[in-house]
Amino acid sequence: MTEPTLPGHPFIAYHEGELCVEQVRLSALASTYGTPLFVYSKAAMLSALAAYQLGFAGRNAQICYAMKANSTLGILQVFALAGCGFDIVSGGELARVLAAGGDPAKVIFSGVGKTRAEMRQALQVGIGCFNVESIAELDVLNEVAVGMGLRAPVSLRVNPNVDPQTHPYISTGLKGNKFGVAHEQAVETYLHASRLPGLKVVGIDCHIGSQITETTPYLDAMDRVLDLVTQVEAAGVPIHHIDFGGGLGINYNGDTPPAADALWAQLLAKLDARGFGQRQLMIEPGRSLVGNAGVCLSEVLYLKPGEQKNFCIIDAAMNDLPRPAMYQAYHHITPVRPRKGEGTLFDVVGPICESGDWIGRDRSLQVQPGDLLAVCSAGAYCMSMASNYNTRGRAAELLIDGDQVHVIRQRESVFDTFQLEQLPV
Ligand code: LLP
Repeated sequence: MTEPTLPGHPFIAYHEGELCVEQVRLSALASTYGTPLFVYSKAAMLSALAAYQLGFAGRNAQICYAMKANSTLGILQVFALAGCGFDIVSGGELARVLAAGGDPAKVIFSGVGKTRAEMRQALQVGIGCFNVESIAELDVLNEVAVGMGLRAPVSLRVNPNVDPQTHPYISTGLKGNKFGVAHEQAVETYLHASRLPGLKVVGIDCHIGSQITETTPYLDAMDRVLDLVTQVEAAGVPIHHIDFGGGLGINYNGDTPPAADALWAQLLAKLDARGFGQRQLMIEPGRSLVGNAGVCLSEVLYLKPGEQKNFCIIDAAMNDLPRPAMYQAYHHITPVRPRKGEGTLFDVVGPICESGDWIGRDRSLQVQPGDLLAVCSAGAYCMSMASNYNTRGRAAELLIDGDQVHVIRQRESVFDTFQLEQLPV
């Protein structure tokens, strides 16, 4: 008998009482590779991508994976081979794209603080587009490009002032955020860009936030962006492509974001209705491509009953899974081999010396020391945000493809964590 998949996690399911990623048992992986351990399903990533591809069938559209969500080379390769471009935010991310075999012509470079060195690096390899966020940045990019005898392809990231109805730390499209060019200043900023000899205006883009679970903010942002395209083109600056950013949410805890193809059916209907259906389109999804393709496996170290709280202390911590500490984020936690019987309420915490080091609060679990837990929705913004705090080496990462196990990142040793340091005497 096959038990159900984890909610929101295709390809991660219980078989014969044990949690498996595709055809591989998690307990076998824990004994071979140790814990904490990130385990990703390649099929889950490709099926998340397929929803976007279906949504864009027959359209002139480029999907640029926002690699900040998970930038491990083995993950980038999956998307590069599937034809994706990449949304990057640093020269480091660009180096990763190249190391993974990605096509620089399909790279868009976002971010408010690109350095001259990063601009030079990106121009040298011929990236597809710089998403520029201010007049000051336009001027510096122009200077760098002229110095190299090149013209930099640019798009302006505009701030549509739309509330994405998500956590304030991951909302980016409102006035008062550091991101983007204000809607009111967009036309004059485009005119400024069009007069600079080292720049070539190619597009417009917006990104209003992350973990968005409603369609309306996207529709509103699209209206605002299309209004601007009309105004900018009327002022004499042609816009070749329109980039609608990323931000589509995933199911962490009963969240019900629209499916990518359903969302895009609505957005494309609006584009068509407003006469923009033939434009080259770009999107920058991150979380929705990888978030629910992975779990973090962790072993229960100790149970510590208390008067007010019971603690379940596991070997993964906020350095591996920073989202609960940073955003009070919810990650579902489930035993790899569920035991029979009533659960007890636990706060699931890590070994780090901070009260903020919690992974889940008030979770009903039936567990014993030595049991394995899977922290769900761990494919996005976990490993890419992991640190060495408390001198903890970062976890290993595995990519599962059917019954094949690929180690895509080895466990970091303690030596790795201090090898760049030197004693002063
Ligand atoms: N494009 C731009 C310009 C972005 O700033 C972002 C995310 C994305 C695309 C991808 O958004 P996504 O599809 O992944 O929502 N660390 C936070 C999320 C920060 C997102 C930052 N920007 C978290 O763990 O929730």
